[in-house]
Amino acid sequence: MTVAAVLVAAGNGSRLGHTLPKAFVPLDGVPLVVHAARGLLTVPGVTAVVVVVPPDRTDAARELVAGLSAALVVVPGGVTRQASVAAGLAALPDEADVVLVHDAARPFAPVEMVDRVIAAVRAGHPAVIPALPVTDTIKRVGPGDTTGAPVLETVPRGPLRAVQTPQGFAREVLLAAHTAAAGLADDEATAASDDAALVEARGVPVWVVPGDERAAKITTPSDLAVAHRLAVRTEPIG
Ligand code: CTP
Ligand code: MG
Repeated sequence: MTVAAVLVAAGNGSRLGHTLPKAFVPLDGVPLVVHAARGLLTVPGVTAVVVVVPPDRTDAARELVAGLSAALVVVPGGVTRQASVAAGLAALPDEADVVLVHDAARPFAPVEMVDRVIAAVRAGHPAVIPALPVTDTIKRVGPGDTTGAPVLETVPRGPLRAVQTPQGFAREVLLAAHTAAAGLADDEATAASDDAALVEARGVPVWVVPGDERAAKITTPSDLAVAHRLAVRTEPIG
């Protein structure tokens, strides 16, 4: 089985609030998308990476990743994550039969976690997601705004999982799910926030393997600060 990855890096990073799009923000001098691409390329069996970037940054991105690998291509993304993944899928090499979809906003997903995802797809699961148990108490709330809202109930958290990437799929299953949902891709209100949701909607079983705290998503400035401390402590970068 041949494994290829779609690395989505075309978001604005509005919650991070940096002058650069999030994937281009440097961490220890290296843009997040480059950290993430390097990580994927170190995973045994990953033979190609399609990097999806903001359309006005394709040339800049090609310069950034030039030299990382001949098996890496850069394509322009869309207005939602779902649309960006679809753009990446259109550029997959023909021989890839297992597809990983990964967020550049998770630059330090460890290789052993990615291996778990690939191994489960190879073992016959058509869709595999890494996830961690939820540690916060979760409550459902009623209508309100940022100043307050009433609690409706406390949700039992035992069966809840916080989902990460990369998610892994049998190629045809993922392509079919994206094709079926293409009409919903261009509006944030209707687009899916992960790929497994599109597969679930078609009744395909999705399998969960253990995630890893190091695959945490960088969303806010404090996430970036935490990732910086971890990166500096755990690996020489550059
Ligand atoms: N993404 C993308 N194309 C989009 C939107 C998001 O490729 N139109 C990617 C982001 O680059 C990121 C991943 O999807 O790697 C997860 O999205 P998120 O963390 O929400 O990143 P942003 O959309 O960039 O951030 P924000 O929502 O704060 O603007
Ligand atoms: Mg977003």
